[in-house]
Amino acid sequence: MSDEELLRLASEVRERAYAPYSRFKVGAAVVGASGAVYVGCNVENASYPLCVCAERTAIGTAIAAGERAISRVVVITDSSPPASPCGGCRQVIWEFGPEAEVVVAGVNGEQHTTTIRALLPQGFDGVSLRR
Ligand code: THU
Repeated sequence: MSDEELLRLASEVRERAYAPYSRFKVGAAVVGASGAVYVGCNVENASYPLCVCAERTAIGTAIAAGERAISRVVVITDSSPPASPCGGCRQVIWEFGPEAEVVVAGVNGEQHTTTIRALLPQGFDGVSLRR
């Protein structure tokens, strides 16, 4: 699927974000190893630490569908410049897609592509647990 289509899906799901506390809506679309696409939005909670990011919602859905790897993550916000995934989401992207490309976009059309390796150098993973 093209980035344009992924962005459209991420933008659509962003509208369904539940963000009454921050008023900061985030949409994400993730491409699984099978080629299938999974979307997610942020889901907040009155108990603030329980808020879940859009990227993690999308990745959780991918994993629940049977995926074990992801190749691309598209995130859209209304920030300018476009906001990058938070540190926690970088770690979760790394778990399933150390080679993944990450596209960050703004609702105003700004867009740039990077890699999770650039966003999370020397990420912690299963290899790190070896002793
Ligand atoms: N948020 C995301 O969905 N993804 C990120 O990578 C950064 C932050 C959400 C969490 C919270 O609902 C809101 O944005 C403000 O932090």
